[in-house]
Amino acid sequence: MERARWASRTVFVLAAVGSAVGLGNVWRFPYLAGKYGGGVFLVPYLLALFVVGVPVLMMEFAIGQKMQQGAIGSFTKLHPSWGGLGVLALLSSFIIVCYYAVVMAWSLIYFWASFGVPWAQDPQDYFFTHVLQITESVDTIGGINWPICLSLLIVWVLIYFCVWRGVRSVGKVVWLTVPMPVFLLVILLIRAITLPGFLDGWAFYLTPVWSALLDAEVWIAAFSQIFFTLTLGFGVMVAYASHKESRDDVAKDTWVTALINSGISLFAGFVVFGILGYMATSTHTQVAELAASGPGLAFVVFPEALSLMPVPWFFSAVFFLTLLLLGIDSAFSVVEAVTITILDTTQRWTSNTLSLLICGSACLAGVIFTTRAGLYFLDIVDHFVTNYNLIIVGILQAILAGWLYGAEKLRRYINEVSDWRVGRWWNRAIQWSVPVVLATLLVNQFWNELQEPYEGYPAWALMIGWGMVLLPCLVFFTLLCTSRGRIRARGEDASPRTSPGRR
Ligand code: PHE
Repeated sequence: MERARWASRTVFVLAAVGSAVGLGNVWRFPYLAGKYGGGVFLVPYLLALFVVGVPVLMMEFAIGQKMQQGAIGSFTKLHPSWGGLGVLALLSSFIIVCYYAVVMAWSLIYFWASFGVPWAQDPQDYFFTHVLQITESVDTIGGINWPICLSLLIVWVLIYFCVWRGVRSVGKVVWLTVPMPVFLLVILLIRAITLPGFLDGWAFYLTPVWSALLDAEVWIAAFSQIFFTLTLGFGVMVAYASHKESRDDVAKDTWVTALINSGISLFAGFVVFGILGYMATSTHTQVAELAASGPGLAFVVFPEALSLMPVPWFFSAVFFLTLLLLGIDSAFSVVEAVTITILDTTQRWTSNTLSLLICGSACLAGVIFTTRAGLYFLDIVDHFVTNYNLIIVGILQAILAGWLYGAEKLRRYINEVSDWRVGRWWNRAIQWSVPVVLATLLVNQFWNELQEPYEGYPAWALMIGWGMVLLPCLVFFTLLCTSRGRIRARGEDASPRTSPGRR
């Protein structure tokens, strides 16, 4: 069967940007910047972008486009026993999309509620008690929270309809879901700069506190944020690129995708901190205090800021619609990637049935995050999967492409098809910087974990997090060993037959 193609190069870039730009840009990036001292976070962030982000994105695009297969097939072509790395990547992104859709489900609830702005009195209470109905600790699960569960179901139905005809329907949907949230962000920015105090917010966002650079945690957060935000190590970019023609440009598409993505993050930072500056002025608090609220930023501090604005319902609705639209193309890119990759290995199902199966199972698996202890689980799983799985996939991919296959071979391919030439720095980045930097961070992170358990959660709950890291890794190692064994057996089988022929 002829491989489906993106309608045009612009559509491919839109889809890649759609996958990259998501809640990571508007929710995760600003809260990390706030948590790690404002402006100073930009230093490791930009460094991570150029040292690791761009080279790895280029590698993933090149692999997918050259091999014309999803992650498993492409990695097998790089080295016959490494297909399991694709499984590790896809399992990790599947786990991520399960909780990511739950954050979208909260956004849907907030969007719906925007028209009455019910959080105006006490946004903290509204989020934790009213929406999440959160239990006092992870030890009490508290049963399923049905409104969130229903909202999750709606989110998954929406995601399914975006992908039901594969890259063809994705190619249409992205024309709406990519530019629209950017447009909405512009509306929010215009609102922000017409409010008193926005400059205080920007000052916090742009003034570096250099001492924060001595904290290893800041560096880990910046590197894992780059992986998360560029959808690296998910197997998504490989799968998306596999639907390009094998002679299409690689280098330019990489730069365009990476720069638009980070541009939108930086832009979202101006929106978020501008509005926080306004809120700090009107409530006589410090921007730093508001910004340090962590993952609650989008659902506690921001709704509060929005409720202080004139015409609060309108700007609240705009903000939560933005979150939803941003999330949806990241979420469906994972469904697409898993579908594409499975279809490459078996023709047993149609792409339609497969997408339905994947959406259905991710929705079911996501139910754990819709319990009243769901936020705790979400926090734990997010911590482990983004800080370990994505980084581990990053290291292994660099070893596979840089050493086992050969960075130079891949670079030559990139240069054959691209207008913009890539220098030898790229080989060094893939072979040395990426694995060394990521491995150092990984070891450091592990060391911290041993020193103090993440956020003081009980051991049984952290075991779930470790399970999400170890199980996919175990699958990878098992597949690696069995396929090595198979290849060796085949080699031994073949040798008695070939040697007489040669003689
Ligand atoms: N790049 C996405 C973001 O920043 C991360 C993501 C991709 C999450 C795909 C889920 C699925 O939001």
